[in-house]
This record gives sequence, C-alpha cells and structure tokens, in this order.
Amino acid sequence: MNLTTTAATAATLRPPNKLPKPNDACWCASGKKYKKCHQDADAEFVKEERKRLEANRVKPGRISPMRVVPDNIPKPDYWQTGQPSRGSGRVVRTAEEIPRMRKAGLAAARILRMAGEFVKPGITTDDIDAYVHELTIKAGGYPSPLNYRGYPKSVCTSVNEVICHGIPDDRKLLDGDIVNLDVTIFLEGVHGDCNATFCVGNVDEESKQLIRVTHECLMKGIEAVKPGRPISDIGRAIEQHSDHYGYGVVRAYCGHGISETFHNSLQIPHYFDARSTTKMEVGMTFTIEPMIAMGTWEETTWDDEWTAVTKDLKRTAQFEHTVLVTETGCDILTRE
Ligand code: MF3
Ligand code: CO
Ligand code: CO
Repeated sequence: MNLTTTAATAATLRPPNKLPKPNDACWCASGKKYKKCHQDADAEFVKEERKRLEANRVKPGRISPMRVVPDNIPKPDYWQTGQPSRGSGRVVRTAEEIPRMRKAGLAAARILRMAGEFVKPGITTDDIDAYVHELTIKAGGYPSPLNYRGYPKSVCTSVNEVICHGIPDDRKLLDGDIVNLDVTIFLEGVHGDCNATFCVGNVDEESKQLIRVTHECLMKGIEAVKPGRPISDIGRAIEQHSDHYGYGVVRAYCGHGISETFHNSLQIPHYFDARSTTKMEVGMTFTIEPMIAMGTWEETTWDDEWTAVTKDLKRTAQFEHTVLVTETGCDILTRE
C-alpha cells in the first residue's frame, strides 16, 4: 500500500472545523453548494472521528491517598478544612507583598520546569504528583492545590481532551499524549501559579500547532496588560489569535487575582467580554491562563466534579503565568 497517497487522500477529505450551511458554497472550492458536494462525506467523517475519540478518551483511574506535608511547612488557611477564607478583598499589592509574590512565582516556575522535564511515556500522572509534592516541600512551600476546596492532589495533570483540573491517578502517559501540568506553591504567605502543556514522546503536528498557538495566546494576553486599560483587552487579544486558527476559547474558566488567597475577586476572561470594564492598576497581581480547544469551547465535568473535558473530546492546551501590573505593562512573576 502506498502510505503517502493514503495520507494525502485523508487530508483532502478532512472537513474544516466550522462546516458550511447546506446552501453555502462547499469548503473544497468546487463552486458547488455544500449539500451537493461534501456534506454527506463530512457527516460520515465526523461520525467516524467521534467513534475514534470516544474509544481513546481519557478514563478515570485510581487515586492514591492524600500526601502529607511536614509540620514545619507554613500552610494556607484551608489546608485542613478545605475551605479558603475570603482574604483581604484588596486586589492591589502593597510594596511589602511584591517581593514575596516574586519569590513564590519564581519557585512555581522552577518546579513546573522540572516537572515538565520528568514527563515521558510510561510514567503515571500520580508519579508526577509525587515529584511535584516533593519539589514543593523542598522549596519550603505548600502545594496549593492540596485540599483546596477538597481537591485531593498537589498538582493538576490534564491529558488530551482534559481542559483543566485533571486529578493525578494511575493512568500511564502514552506516546503521543499531550499533558498540562498546573503547579501552584504557597510560599512566603502568598501563591505563585503557572502551567504549561508538554508533549509525551512523539506527538502529531496538529497537536504541536495547538500547543504553539496556545502559548502565543498567553503571550498576546500578557502584551495587552497596561494600567488604565480595561481587563477585557486581555481576552480580546487572546480570542483574536485563537480565532485565526479556528480554535475555541474555553469560557467556563478564567484567570484570577492571586496573592494571599489562591483566587480573589478579580476575574480575567480569555475571550472578549464587554462586561470586564475593571481597569488594570499598577500593583495588581493576577493570572492569565488561556485554555484553547481544537474544536468546541464547550465543556463538561466528570463525576469527580473536578475534571473538565471538551464536549467534542477534541484536544485542548493551556499555558499560565502570574503577572504583576507595572507602569509600562507587566512583569511575569512565574519566569526563571
Ligand atoms: N491552578 C489552578 C488555576 O490556575 C487552580 C487549581 S484549583 C485545584 O487556577 F483545586 F484544582 F487545585
Ligand atoms: Co490560575
Ligand atoms: Co494554575
């Protein structure tokens, strides 16, 4: 069999993400109406693809017991109860808080990098959890996710169609998977929060493009940070870049103000939301963490009440930084 021809045929038959209406021109440039051209073939393709995605979907695994944090590590208020307090309500940091935010941000960035270097086919997401837990404690910090609103692990590990908040379990990473690691450390009385999506072994070109574009979306969002400008500028920049590739911007989860509380009242949507009129101010610290999907932005949640997945089971990627608004733009705190 000639594999090159087979691949080329499959590629020309692959319908675009957004399908035309029956009476619109077909996407293939034949000049025919869609209903007289590729409509039936596309319906078949979508059905087959759905079957393949269903068969390969990520399934919940076995979750190991909660890991222990030594007595000498300072802990956030929710560590035992699972319920975070409201915090000060301030969204602008004092001069005294900023150096502490920098330390927590830097520690989170280091742990995320090391966890990313640890990713390879055959390890389980629970192995990653054990490693992040150990690195966080070695840095003198508490792994913020642990018991945050009852979350049972020290890091979020989100594989393929999992958008965010994937719980580490005994599932082995497979060659060709993509996995997002979301690391947050409570250090010096404040949180530093960042995440990145990593390739497991050899990954297909489509997924690699998704990962590259998602990182570009984060950086475009960061470039839009300017004191005096509305928060909606950030999502506008992200959505514009994502739209260019026909990807979906997940709407259910936003960036957030962060400091002595993991999540404060500031919300940073990653799509354009005209209601986000709050002006950015020097000294604000918040995260930007776009979740970009190959297909639909719509999500559902597993029965575990944490794991968010795309409705169409297509892959999704995410990158996150914690930033500090400055006179000229912002500083990325979660960068080495
Ligand atoms: N780190 C995530 C964020 O970026 C929050 C995880 S909450 C947890 O906001 F409970 F799932 F850990
Ligand atoms: Co965050
Ligand atoms: Co995070």
